[in-house]
Amino acid sequence: MNARPRVVVTRRLPPKVEAALAERFDVERSKDDRPLGAGGLQRAMERADGLLATLGDRITAEVLSANPRRTRIIANFGAGTDHIDLEAAQAYGITVTNTPDSLTGDTADLTIALILATLRRSGEGERELRAGRWGGWRPTHLLGRRATGLTLGVIGLGRIGLAVCQRAAQGFEMRVLGTSRTRPDEAVLAAAGVEWRETVEGVLSESDVVSLHVPGTPETLGMLNARRIALMKPGSVLINTARGGVVDTDAIVAAMHSGHLAGVGLDVYPDEPVIDPRLLGLERAVLLPHLGSATREAREAMGMCAIENLAAHFAGEEPPNRVA
Ligand code: DGY
Repeated sequence: MNARPRVVVTRRLPPKVEAALAERFDVERSKDDRPLGAGGLQRAMERADGLLATLGDRITAEVLSANPRRTRIIANFGAGTDHIDLEAAQAYGITVTNTPDSLTGDTADLTIALILATLRRSGEGERELRAGRWGGWRPTHLLGRRATGLTLGVIGLGRIGLAVCQRAAQGFEMRVLGTSRTRPDEAVLAAAGVEWRETVEGVLSESDVVSLHVPGTPETLGMLNARRIALMKPGSVLINTARGGVVDTDAIVAAMHSGHLAGVGLDVYPDEPVIDPRLLGLERAVLLPHLGSATREAREAMGMCAIENLAAHFAGEEPPNRVA
């Protein structure tokens, strides 16, 4: 009987996923649930047939150059693959897969939660209450904005962006504008309740709330810069559940201090888990620790999807979610 493929799993996964992995592969589980680092990843590539990696693993060209290298597949646990040098992987003949469908609804839900938390100032309220500073109900206490009737602008109309549009339009009766590198079909836009705009600028200038849903690529790095933030409506709100590098932190901080932005809701940061201390000082910022897909359901589905990709690869078939 052939030996089972050896798979190094870089972080702890939900028990159901770890059990399913162990049924199929010779699994090396993370001992301490900490990132392996460049050296650890290289050593893993030397001994494993496959790597089940996550967004905390920076899989650079150098890591991929491990020699000797046994790994032929990196099954990413997550949709975004900006932490993996896909070109280098391709050049070395290493297959890379992701888990695109398993987390759409939950990430869209968290985006809506951030929109509401930012508009309704729930972070400020919770901090006040926990600090024993709440003086009781009063008519002018922590007044926020009603989502219904506001205009939401969505930049990036992929799976998650469209799911946010649909929830905002149907659940909260927001007017929804959107733009994307590729224009979705009319029927798709209509089903999600989106009015199409040709440009990012066109969305920014009309929206009360702007939500970012573009992938982290060299093209989107710093795309929401000071020039574009200046085009947003005074008193508007910015939400980012995509990738931290998409927004220029200096520009956010300046716009919050000047009052041009009334609030910001962030789930992602340029150098996670490091947080720019200036963000922590913004009272009207709601800051979450990258929780977009953090439901048991999504994380189990992501794990099962990564397993399917690994299994297809080791069976000599095309993995369903190949990105390189
Ligand atoms: C992804 O899948 O890339 C997400 O950021 C994880 O929540």
